[in-house]
Amino acid sequence: MKTKRVLKKGVREKFIIIILILVAIYAGYRVIKSYNSVNHKLGKIGYTIDEINKIKELDKVDLFLTHDYHSKLLDVVTSKYYLEKNLDTYLSYYDNNNDKNINDIIAIVNVGANNEFYTNVKETNINDGFAILVNKYYKLNEEYKPDNLVDVSNWYSYGEQKVNEEVYTQFKKMFNDASNEGLTLIINDSYRTYEEQENNQIKYGDELAARAGHSEHNTGLAIDITSYDYDGSNFDQSDEFKWLSTNAHKYGFILRYPKGKEYLTGYDYESWHYRYLGKDLATKVYESGLTYDEYYAYYLEK
Ligand code: DAL
Ligand code: ZN
Repeated sequence: MKTKRVLKKGVREKFIIIILILVAIYAGYRVIKSYNSVNHKLGKIGYTIDEINKIKELDKVDLFLTHDYHSKLLDVVTSKYYLEKNLDTYLSYYDNNNDKNINDIIAIVNVGANNEFYTNVKETNINDGFAILVNKYYKLNEEYKPDNLVDVSNWYSYGEQKVNEEVYTQFKKMFNDASNEGLTLIINDSYRTYEEQENNQIKYGDELAARAGHSEHNTGLAIDITSYDYDGSNFDQSDEFKWLSTNAHKYGFILRYPKGKEYLTGYDYESWHYRYLGKDLATKVYESGLTYDEYYAYYLEK
């Protein structure tokens, strides 16, 4: 009898020891698991629990785990026009310009304006058709000459003008519809050759004229519009300008250098310069409220 009780006691002790070992293993497993958890890792990088919850909702945990802590990283990646390829540039540009708001930082970097104008210049993709981008960072080569240029009747213009054929058709529709409302749209300038642009640039300087190869006027897709009794200095006071502001896109034109966007376009406000994009694209750009530089960078650039 005595032997049997001793045996039973031994079995019970062994059983308790096994249970304790299992509990210890499980506890160790939980500690290791929590140490490896996303919350722990993000917390260690420096994010608060609120920020961690937002990061998890965004489904961008890996991006945050592979970057050092940055107080603006969450604002940057949740900004509407954020492009992942520009992430490091946004952050370093912000670090040197922390008085600017994040949406401006995003826009500036997207269009390349974190670089001095006319630096980091790429070649314009001439296969983009009416969506072609020509600006201070995208250049046409010297040999470029657009097809389909036609002469503009002096019924519609001051001086001799040439534009792309489709631009002419659409301008005439716009002219007629404006005319039915008692308004007169006059083409004041249009296609310019590389050499003509060079002379223009010397005459007007960087704020008003593009350097040769960098002007939309070289594509036949840009027109400068005026009306009787107006010039560049006051065209935005005219009824014609007001009408264009809400109608030009319906014919395929956008105001290319708007007021307040000089830091992106690199040009002073030009109430007279309209760029043809085609109806669909012009309407999308108009509705986005973006400059064409921003729109192209976000939606079209490959
Ligand atoms: N005035 C515009 C910017 C041009 O020269 O193309
Ligand atoms: Zn112009």
